[in-house]
Amino acid sequence: MDTGGRLDVWVERWAEGRTRWHNKDVNFSLVHHGTLLLEYPGRRVLVPLCGKSVDLKWFYDEGHTVVGIEAVEQAVLAFFSEQHLTYTTEQLTWGKLFKTHDGRLSVFCCDIMKVDATHLGKFDAVWDRGSLVALDEEDWKGYAEIMKSMLASDFRYLLSITQYTPNELFSGPPSNVPTEVVEQLFGDVCSLKVLETVKWPAEDERLAKWHLDYMAELVLILTPKS
Ligand SMILES: C[S@@+](CC[C@H](N)C(=O)[O-])C[C@H]1O[C@@H](n2cnc3c(N)ncnc32)[C@H](O)[C@@H]1O
Repeated sequence: MDTGGRLDVWVERWAEGRTRWHNKDVNFSLVHHGTLLLEYPGRRVLVPLCGKSVDLKWFYDEGHTVVGIEAVEQAVLAFFSEQHLTYTTEQLTWGKLFKTHDGRLSVFCCDIMKVDATHLGKFDAVWDRGSLVALDEEDWKGYAEIMKSMLASDFRYLLSITQYTPNELFSGPPSNVPTEVVEQLFGDVCSLKVLETVKWPAEDERLAKWHLDYMAELVLILTPKS
């Protein structure tokens, strides 16, 4: 796959094993707020920029249909291998599809900015963690338009963002995404509600490494604007 400049850094991170964002447990936001995201059984769930997140498997085990999007094939292969899932592959003009035999869990290996959104269809639920915040600011608007084009009429969109004061030495990823920016990107079709704010403990070594005073993770739910 031609990764273009924007993906090189991620290919490198995966190759060097620099994946500190990866959690071995299901993300706390899903544990706390999953019922708001998944109000009914059998939802179609989208996980953009999914990495090898165990959250994909959690949705699958809960009986939902899950679609991930991840640019780095090493991450996709690691996911299926670590979760002991067998799969088929299909080469597409804009990426490569990995799919479990029951068809209920798919990962499209492609640059999200080049995804064929009509091919993926509409989603009842979106889990966006380490996704918007992983993209360059210049891609936020395009990304938001792609995501909004894939929302079913009664969607629920759980969004995790990071907030801090960027400095000369560190501005992400993860990027600082002010809540007002989320409003600008999604507010035309979504109502926003902040569900939870979690401050990283002062002793988290990444704060010193990145020369930051604080880092907060905010969990928002986006719902159709009435
Ligand atoms: C910070 S990680 C978060 C992964 C996952 N959401 C999680 O919570 O563990 C961002 C992921 O997005 C992938 N990625 C970065 N830019 C991408 C793009 N333009 N299209 C698709 N995937 C991308 C990276 O390879 C990486 O696995």
